[in-house]
Amino acid sequence: MENLSSHSLSGTTKNFIDKVVSEENGRAGALLAILQRVQESHARKFLPRETLEYISQRASVPLSRLFSVVTFYALFNLEPQGRNTVCVCRGTACHTRGSSRLLEQVMMDLGLRAKEDGESDKLTATTDDGETTLRTVACFGQCALAPVVEVNHVIFGHMNERSLQRELEALSKREARP
Ligand code: FES
Repeated sequence: MENLSSHSLSGTTKNFIDKVVSEENGRAGALLAILQRVQESHARKFLPRETLEYISQRASVPLSRLFSVVTFYALFNLEPQGRNTVCVCRGTACHTRGSSRLLEQVMMDLGLRAKEDGESDKLTATTDDGETTLRTVACFGQCALAPVVEVNHVIFGHMNERSLQRELEALSKREARP
């Protein structure tokens, strides 16, 4: 089983980070590109603290700045992510069209109790089996399609409880596969 709380990085991970830092450093948007590539390379699509510490050393960027960037952008994760992701928009347009009911439906269906991030009002939770992560966003930029839910990076507009149920059932069948 993967050790998510390991305090040391493998040689392979360090080599990969070294390579990414040397390729990206000096380019416009280097820091975001480094963080994105390193997160993408992790099997659970997140940035553990020890990874950020190593990036901080190699890219000569203070750790506090890395944490500010990672917590500011919704695409970065500090916690392990599930194999599936369900993302519910809680922006104004989606909220007025019933996204909170959809959010409750997902939480009940997955048996989740989500924890709020007090500062950003973001909500995130992963099922105990690590299969599915539920997140919320402030807006997908698709307000005309409200309410919007994203399932495994596919946007579904005008989502209602029945169509959401169908997508969640499709996920559970995917989970059930060997
Ligand atoms: S408020 Fe939901 S997509 Fe903009």
